[in-house]
Amino acid sequence: MIALISLFIASFLAPEVSAVIGTDFNCTSYNGTSFVYTPAAVACSNVISDSSCAVIYAAANTLYPAAGNDAQRSYACYTTATATPAALVTDMKAAAIANCPKTCGYCCQTDAYNCRNADFPRLNCATVTLSQCNSPAWRTIIAQDCPASCGFCLTGGCVDAVTNCGNDLSICRTVGMESFVNTYCQKTCNRCPSSTTFASSGTVTTTVTSTCTSYIADSSTNCAAWSRNGFCTNTFYTLAQRRARCATTCRLC
Ligand SMILES: *[C@@H]1O[C@H](CO)[C@@H](O)[C@H](O)[C@H]1NC(C)=O
Ligand SMILES: *[C@@H]1O[C@H](CO)[C@@H](O)[C@H](O)[C@H]1NC(C)=O
Repeated sequence: MIALISLFIASFLAPEVSAVIGTDFNCTSYNGTSFVYTPAAVACSNVISDSSCAVIYAAANTLYPAAGNDAQRSYACYTTATATPAALVTDMKAAAIANCPKTCGYCCQTDAYNCRNADFPRLNCATVTLSQCNSPAWRTIIAQDCPASCGFCLTGGCVDAVTNCGNDLSICRTVGMESFVNTYCQKTCNRCPSSTTFASSGTVTTTVTSTCTSYIADSSTNCAAWSRNGFCTNTFYTLAQRRARCATTCRLC
């Protein structure tokens, strides 16, 4: 019986002694059983080479931070200690963020990722994927509503929808390309609405992509929740239906 109880206790304590994320839970979320890295923890590139980062920040147990896993960060990412309990040393962490944010799972704390998403985003910022960050269909909406999810915090909400506009600047002045560049090369060709502002607090304020400056009031009190679930962008609903219920939240003229 005693053996059984101690086995039970041991299994209960097991997660404590195994190598899991400890001390610093930034860029992680709780998945129901463990703290795991968010996609934004590893969405950026290292500043110095990946191979140098792998040497400086050798993985504690062969596994490196990746979205959804609970690999323990290399101690050097955040502490001068070499065993737990390891106190956070802010200089160590700052160096890791400045040089090897991806290897240390700290992308979400770099300037490009460290801002607030919009209060009523048109899509669920928490589930934005890397392919959406690169998708012409999503980039401008994400830059406005979920900048922290794609490292768009320093763009002021203004990005090109396609990523290669800058290869040929003459495209901005080419006759016949106006509507293309107005839609897809807003940043390169200076076509972002000036109403997109980036508050120094890191809060993005948007009144974008439309020509009106005020909207009719939402007729439903559920718009904020619906918006988080994608109501404003879901083409299952017609534009008229979205406007009739949540014109303000969805910013529909
Ligand atoms: C996130 O990082 C900051 C600064 O390094 C630290 O003070 C804070 O405790 C961390 N938050 C969590 C949840 O670990
Ligand atoms: C949470 O993450 C851990 C570590 O990656 C994994 O073993 C576990 O299955 C995950 N749990 C859920 C509910 O996704």
